[in-house]
Amino acid sequence: MRNTASYIRIIVFLIITYILIEITVESGDQSAFIAQPLTWLVLGMILLFMVAIEISLEALRTILFRSLKPDAQERYLIAQKTKKEKQFGWIKEAYLKLLDSKPVEEEEEIILDHNYDGIKELDNNLPPWWVYSFYATIIFGVIYLARFHVFNDYTQTEEYETEVAEAKIAIEEYKKTAKDLVDINTVTLLTDASDIGAGKAIFIANCVACHKADGGGGIGPNLTDEYWILGGGIKNVFRTISEGGRDGKGMVAWKQTLKPAEMAQVASYIITLVGTSPAEPKEPQGEIWVDPDASKEEIPETVSDSTAVVLNE
Ligand code: HEC
Repeated sequence: MRNTASYIRIIVFLIITYILIEITVESGDQSAFIAQPLTWLVLGMILLFMVAIEISLEALRTILFRSLKPDAQERYLIAQKTKKEKQFGWIKEAYLKLLDSKPVEEEEEIILDHNYDGIKELDNNLPPWWVYSFYATIIFGVIYLARFHVFNDYTQTEEYETEVAEAKIAIEEYKKTAKDLVDINTVTLLTDASDIGAGKAIFIANCVACHKADGGGGIGPNLTDEYWILGGGIKNVFRTISEGGRDGKGMVAWKQTLKPAEMAQVASYIITLVGTSPAEPKEPQGEIWVDPDASKEEIPETVSDSTAVVLNE
């Protein structure tokens, strides 16, 4: 494979294959090459195949060339050479046309009769690329003037505001798809029935062995009463699930097993259990938890600092 055309053909073919695979293989939002690693194998096979074809073609060409008589070989070489020269000839031609400069040999024709201490001036035509760009700017200017100063299409302020509004919508969209971005600091109570349902499923799959299906408690504490060992409220519950309970008590950190979004769902589900009456409730453990974010007036002075008590446990 000595000629560049072979390499270009292989690369173009690979790119086409890549695009075709990306379009045809079902892979959701992800790239087909991430969702279905087997596609790499296909691409690799096609690469090998292409290389093999190019090598065979080259070999065939060499054999045919050797079988020619010497004068035929010479004619073939000359034909190849002119073909190569012609290949990119039009680019060169277009380039020269856009420059429209006189070759050095013909400069005599356009030289002006000024002579500043031996420095002479040529009367070249303006290069067409420059002239056409200039006309284009004039046309642009006229359209711009008419659109924004005569017909007052929109102002820069309006343009800015629409872009900001669009960006805000995009951020909302992104937040919806990126639920896993939640952590202890940003987690909020989920109220969607679908989230609570998902939380219940996670709870039944992972937690009932110790907390019972109704949250009444067994090895683990009762999750339905107002008493919390490690703090109530969505943030504390999320932290307990994520980081686990006190050492040796049996509540492991779930962050390796559950995704952040799943922990937020199961934490929200647990909050919905508070106030329900389980069949065999375990006796209360810990302290009554009062949300420190709730408005201060409603909380009696004595318990307003309840978080400190909880954290000192
Ligand atoms: C192996 C038994 C076990 C499993 C399984 C378990 N827990 Fe626990 N859980 C415990 C124990 C024990 C505690 C008390 C920890 C402590 O005292 O520090 C606890 C505490 C908690 C608390 C804090 C209660 C409080 O009063 O502060 C929450 C919330 C909780 N678990 C949720 C879950 C969730 C959600 C799951 C499932 C993803 C789960 N647990 C799975 C044993 C378990």
